[in-house]
Amino acid sequence: MDNLFIQFSCSTTVTLTTVVVLFLSTIVLLKKYCKRRDGSSSSRNTATSPPISIPLGTLGWPFIGETIEFITCAYSDCPESFMDKLRRVYGKVFKSHVFGSPTIVSTDADVSRVVLQSDSKNFIPSYPRSLTELIGKSSILLINGNLQKRIHGLIGSFFKSSHIKAQITLDMQKYVQESMALWRDDQLIYIQDETKNVAFHVLVKALISLRSRKGNAIPETRISTIYRGEQLTVDLISDNMTDLMIPGEDSVPVLMTLAVKYLSDCPRALHQLMEENMNLKREKAVLGEPLSWSDYMSLSFTQNVISETLRMGNIVTGVIRKAMRDVEIKGYLIPKGWCVFTYFRSVHLDENLYEWPYQFYPWRWQEKEMGCNFTPFGGGQRLRPGVDLARLETTIFLHHFVIQFRFGPELRRTVPIH
Ligand code: HEM
Repeated sequence: MDNLFIQFSCSTTVTLTTVVVLFLSTIVLLKKYCKRRDGSSSSRNTATSPPISIPLGTLGWPFIGETIEFITCAYSDCPESFMDKLRRVYGKVFKSHVFGSPTIVSTDADVSRVVLQSDSKNFIPSYPRSLTELIGKSSILLINGNLQKRIHGLIGSFFKSSHIKAQITLDMQKYVQESMALWRDDQLIYIQDETKNVAFHVLVKALISLRSRKGNAIPETRISTIYRGEQLTVDLISDNMTDLMIPGEDSVPVLMTLAVKYLSDCPRALHQLMEENMNLKREKAVLGEPLSWSDYMSLSFTQNVISETLRMGNIVTGVIRKAMRDVEIKGYLIPKGWCVFTYFRSVHLDENLYEWPYQFYPWRWQEKEMGCNFTPFGGGQRLRPGVDLARLETTIFLHHFVIQFRFGPELRRTVPIH
């Protein structure tokens, strides 16, 4: 009996302790939950404000979440079908689990704008480890706060300077013409490969001035011009060189290639583009002047073609940020430590924002403002600093392409090779 009693009393003690622990944990969890539902704004009037919560959705499989479905879809003929499906079921903002992290996906332009414009107290960039190892920890894509602002400003003003634009214009014209001169009528031309080669040479020369010196001397790096007067480490400079080379040699050629593809499917746009560019060529020939970067940028229909290509092509489908604390946006809770994926593609192809979104229609940009719904280059303080460069290079490529060739199913040269 003694034993029994001891046993009984022991298990009662355990049970009581368990009940107390469970009770206390429940209170703590409830408090946390209530705090979380209140989000970051402690001054919320809970009596009048609608409750906030983590958006609906599913986290998919353990560890891998919904990553495989997302990637499989991204490489299919209909890359947005995965997001569209979830959007139909859960609404414009939903939860998922992609690239190893619970993630709030935003296909809502307002929510994405707030995320992009937030500072590093709320959100910091988040990239898969494979990429962070490639770009280096000092990359502008990974640094935050004042250092990021400084580097961003330096890169932006470098590419905005009229001196660099003038040099890029000359180089781009030269390399494009050299490349096109080699194209033969009976040859298959891979536009993306050709444009990659051109864009690579232009950028290397702009950044490193490789051709500026003869002989074996180490080239005076142009990048030092960007960073002049700034005490920046070699790691920081070299990591950021990679950052500039990757989009410069990759995203811009994709933009040029997509523009050619969309134009070949839209003869009316191609015709108008050709007219505009031929007119400029004739005007400059009469004046006996070479084309400057501002001449290229004045080609308004060509700029509309580029904008429409950016909208439909979605070269960067979206960006991922990680929440540094619980953040509430438009009634949605983004918990601390979760990622938020601002998915541009769904916004750019949203029929409520763009009529006939899947139709290549450059004329829409004649009346339409490039407002906050159009974010091919991101937004906020990380808005891509190479925006001018991408447009300028693409304009020069398209100019030389349409004044020299007629294309449809086949490419035909219309002017003799000089
Ligand atoms: C069609 C061409 C391009 C597209 C669509 C594009 C798109 C983007 C986007 C969406 C971001 C924002 C990332 C974020 O918010 O975290 C970005 C950032 C950036 N882009 Fe590009 N980009 C292009 C070309 C270029 C070029 C030509 C350069 C320079 C040579 C460049 C340099 C950068 C840099 C340095 C950043 C990081 C900015 C920061 O974090 O402060 N991009 N780009």
